[in-house]
Amino acid sequence: MILDRPAFILANTRLQTPPHCPEIQLHLADEVTPIWRMTEEALSEIGLPPPFWAFAWAGGQAVARYVLDHPEVVAGKRVLDFATGSGLVAIAAMRAGALSALGSDVDAFCGPAVALNAAVNGVEVAFTAADLLDGPAPDVDVILAGDICYEQPLAGRVLAWLTAARAEGRTVLIGDPMRTYFPREGLVHLAEYQVPTTRELEDFEVKRTSVWAFP
Ligand SMILES: C[S@@+](CC[C@H](N)C(=O)[O-])C[C@H]1O[C@@H](n2cnc3c(N)ncnc32)[C@H](O)[C@@H]1O
Repeated sequence: MILDRPAFILANTRLQTPPHCPEIQLHLADEVTPIWRMTEEALSEIGLPPPFWAFAWAGGQAVARYVLDHPEVVAGKRVLDFATGSGLVAIAAMRAGALSALGSDVDAFCGPAVALNAAVNGVEVAFTAADLLDGPAPDVDVILAGDICYEQPLAGRVLAWLTAARAEGRTVLIGDPMRTYFPREGLVHLAEYQVPTTRELEDFEVKRTSVWAFP
């Protein structure tokens, strides 16, 4: 089935503010939107991968909060938001004064989600659906990544890629709520937040979430 992705996103989300970044608005799912209770099987029947783009994940909210509160990290810089989902971190970077922001995500729904969310916040965010892990990091100054250690193969690939990008001189920050495959060893702890979330999504109402820098 071919879906009109922007129409699907608008029909299945509500404009909301992520609790830890109230200055940003996003099209997000919640208990009153239709996809909230759909199973993965029901979603795959309509050709939809799990809609990561419909939630502001705890790791992303932490990195977004960090750059909003420490704009010097991104101000005037070219920023990549790796695994952008809704585009939250890229939007926060632009609101904090980044020169440009590129969101990358292999889920093709994220392109229209990022476009809708960037527009509502009055910023421009470019998007690529290419798997950037297949090559060297693009020519940016800062790489931000929120909540990317939720499964093992991805965590392994992305951490090696981010380490290489850091070795080439990029600033690299990662936000993570202690996911199973997050290796904190060797990283520099920058900030810790209590990020409100939901029992349906995370089994917790608040997630302790940190921002780390690659040294
Ligand atoms: C838990 S979500 C985090 C989204 C967003 N950063 C946030 O914190 O709200 C993880 C995202 O990683 C994306 N992803 C998985 N593999 C990827 C890859 N190789 N390159 C880019 N994004 C990827 C998924 O599609 C998903 O949108």
